Amino acid sequence: MTRILVTGGAGYVGSTATAILADRGYEVIVFDDLSMGHADAVDARATLIQGTLLDADALRSALAGCQAVIHFAGKSLVGESVEKPKLYHHVNVDGTHNLLDAMAIHGIDKIVFSSSAATYGQPVDDPITEESVASPTNPYGASKLAIDKMITATGISAISLRYFNVAGAFESSNGWLPERHNPETHLIPLVLRATETNPLKIFGTDWDTKDGTCIRDYVHVVDLIEAHILALGALKPHTHEIVNLGSGGGYSVREVITTAEEILGRPVPAIESPRRAGDPATLVASIVKAKSLLGWVPTRDLKTMISDAVKSQAQ
Ligand code: UFG
Repeated sequence: MTRILVTGGAGYVGSTATAILADRGYEVIVFDDLSMGHADAVDARATLIQGTLLDADALRSALAGCQAVIHFAGKSLVGESVEKPKLYHHVNVDGTHNLLDAMAIHGIDKIVFSSSAATYGQPVDDPITEESVASPTNPYGASKLAIDKMITATGISAISLRYFNVAGAFESSNGWLPERHNPETHLIPLVLRATETNPLKIFGTDWDTKDGTCIRDYVHVVDLIEAHILALGALKPHTHEIVNLGSGGGYSVREVITTAEEILGRPVPAIESPRRAGDPATLVASIVKAKSLLGWVPTRDLKTMISDAVKSQAQ
């Protein structure tokens, strides 16, 4: 059986990966500091090791017997990264340096890394391809780009998956694995919890888009994890590939609200608010490379993402 180290395996995306990998017969070792993740989100078939990427010894012992790594762990709040750039560099970049060193000690030469659309910064292309200029506009994106470059320099077998907007939820054999960020900054969970007294703030209604609100490319977390499993099988010796993961199409903030209203059967209270600093108008992925390299095709639409998010929150 293939034993895989899943860093960040107690988080929203990582815990979904852990459950799906366990379903597929992988032996999963989760390495997570539980600063953002939840121990109760870790599938019972996996082994949870509580540890930080900054602890090289803990990483070394967690990797014993593993054949590959899926690396989700890291700090991931764009706003916080602007306030604490050194922290983001330290945890994400230095932490991944420790991970790569520990992998080298064990002779483990396979990694799938969760990179981000934030590496591209203000997009110059629509859709964004892997060849598009990578010029991050915040320390979070800069840390992900630095890691991508560091992985290339190691010469190991690697695929960096650049996520666009991840949404939805997975119903594991133990129940739904909801998005449980604290603080929550992502649009769909905030749409679902908006009330008359605490309405959703629509960040900007004067963007140069079809309805004036920002356009993003939403991808279902289960489709996203499917791409990680395909990536494990597509790793090639001494080759580092960068691959975008989105759906290849965009929805505006207003379209997300309208779709949620249809699913909820009630209006979503929302108020027009100023633009959020650092937001680009439109971020849409080209997924041509994901299709050709991984054979990946996302199959779950925005309605499925929102209705799965609703079910997971209601649990
Ligand atoms: N939005 C609102 N109101 C809110 C929250 C979000 O209008 O209360 C809007 C944002 O302005 C944006 C869209 O909804 O247009 C999506 O916002 P999210 O915060 O959900 O996601 P982002 O597109 O900002 O962020 C995503 C990932 C980040 C990644 C970034 C890349 O979540 O990890 O894309 O730019 F860094």
